[in-house]
Amino acid sequence: MSATRIDGKAVAARVLDQVRDRAAAFTAAKGRPPGLAVVLVGEDPASQVYVRNKGREADAAGFRSEQHTLPLSTSQAELLAIVARLNADPGIDGILVQLPLPKGIDTETVLLAIDPAKDVDGFHPINVGLLGTGAADKALVPCTPAGSVILVESVLGPSLAGKHAVVVGRSNIVGKPVAQLLLQRDATVTIAHSRTADLPAICRMADVLVAAVGRPEMIRGDWVKPGAVVIDVGINRIAAPEKGEGKTRLVGDVATEEAAVHAAAITPVPGGVGPMTIALLMANTVAAAHLREGLPRPHFGA
Ligand code: GUN
Repeated sequence: MSATRIDGKAVAARVLDQVRDRAAAFTAAKGRPPGLAVVLVGEDPASQVYVRNKGREADAAGFRSEQHTLPLSTSQAELLAIVARLNADPGIDGILVQLPLPKGIDTETVLLAIDPAKDVDGFHPINVGLLGTGAADKALVPCTPAGSVILVESVLGPSLAGKHAVVVGRSNIVGKPVAQLLLQRDATVTIAHSRTADLPAICRMADVLVAAVGRPEMIRGDWVKPGAVVIDVGINRIAAPEKGEGKTRLVGDVATEEAAVHAAAITPVPGGVGPMTIALLMANTVAAAHLREGLPRPHFGA
């Protein structure tokens, strides 16, 4: 028996259909489209690809889409001035400052400067706090965690009551927020990390196992409980000498083929969580637009 592969592209396409419908209704109601501004400082090639894809999806969703590309020499004060201008622009509902920022710019200062109502990354402490107190209906929630939980929903449905979820990784970007979202869906949640004793035994208790550690194929097949749903958030580029000298390939934090022997369903890498992140950025932008205009918040799901 091999696990069902969870098709992140297909689920993301469904979310993006919902985004387009909601964006069109918003535009009709308010006489303006949802607006998303993405700010990129410097020329990191991976960031350039992400930012271009975000712009393309925003255009496809019918948004007003702006990209601000700033040179590596940009000062923190200049970046903060752009954030302030976007905060004050009534037609912009979402502001995303692409990370990592160049040395010399303090990430926390910049993230704190973004209006929490426009914080479509969900990284501002106000949004982190709203999620943590269970007021997720008012919070903008980080995209990768929100997308990961929709993939769980695509297999198990919206309620995780009675399920034990184990999250491996405790980052602010994935581990902690995904744990909060699983808790909100009534899962019993364990957060494990690099200092956890007997990590394989903890993982074997998981009905839902979320891997977000950034270590290629660290989670082995015999760590997976029979019938578990496995969400692999890792994206690691490793050498692939079998493809030729100097070639590389992408792998997750889970040894997928081994894990698929035990799991009921598992996300592939690539093509699992990855496509969800950008779909949830678009969903967050539409949600922010509705909240800012005092309209009922739309729901996006599997
Ligand atoms: N860089 C890599 N992932 C992300 C993300 O989710 N948000 C932002 N702003 N930058 C990133």
